[in-house]
Amino acid sequence: MLRVAVCVSGGGTNLQAIIDAIGSGVIRDTKIVRVISNNKNAYALTRAESAGIEGVCVSPRDYETRELFNEALLACLEEAKPDLIVLAGFMVAVPACVIDRFRGRIINIHPALIPSFCGKGYYGLHVHEKVLERGAKVTGATVHFVDEDLDHGPILLQKAVDVKEGDTPQILQRRVMEEAEWIILPKAISLIAEGRVTIDDNAIAHIRES
Ligand code: GAR
Repeated sequence: MLRVAVCVSGGGTNLQAIIDAIGSGVIRDTKIVRVISNNKNAYALTRAESAGIEGVCVSPRDYETRELFNEALLACLEEAKPDLIVLAGFMVAVPACVIDRFRGRIINIHPALIPSFCGKGYYGLHVHEKVLERGAKVTGATVHFVDEDLDHGPILLQKAVDVKEGDTPQILQRRVMEEAEWIILPKAISLIAEGRVTIDDNAIAHIRES
């Protein structure tokens, strides 16, 4: 049984996609053991509660320093004893102590095709705004392992999505979620649960055929 902790900040549609994929058997031998939000008002916490999953808020606002917040986040994760940590719309820079402790066991969903439209300032709706500003004709989503550099670790899965004439950032965001994110994030967890993913010495992720 793969124990998964999911970190969220907002609406939690990616969390919902994971919950649904476990419920329908698309992801097997996997349990979400804890949902952690940095935002106590995140709708994702309501989704967790509805699914009978423990939800915990660890907010930087409740700590005097960033250091103390980082330690609290690490403690909250450690307590859940996860085999895998999934960042599903988590808008917090993951502290080095967490990356160090769970190296190779943290994945993130990014709403573009890395290495395009990623890095500092590229999160949430801003990503889609920048795609439209640049006039890109194809975008998509990426699931990657997390390392110390933002949006940089080994790429696990990607899926392309067309940009269409007349798209707004909101319309494009929705299409990227529907056609890519909600598919490849559950798929990535499923591949890991089946033990089919390895990362080589050159930091390239490989997927074994089943
Ligand atoms: C998703 O589009 C996710 O890819 C993005 O935030 C959204 C969260 O939506 N993540 C990032 O931009 C991380 N850099 P959700 O809360 O409905 O899953």
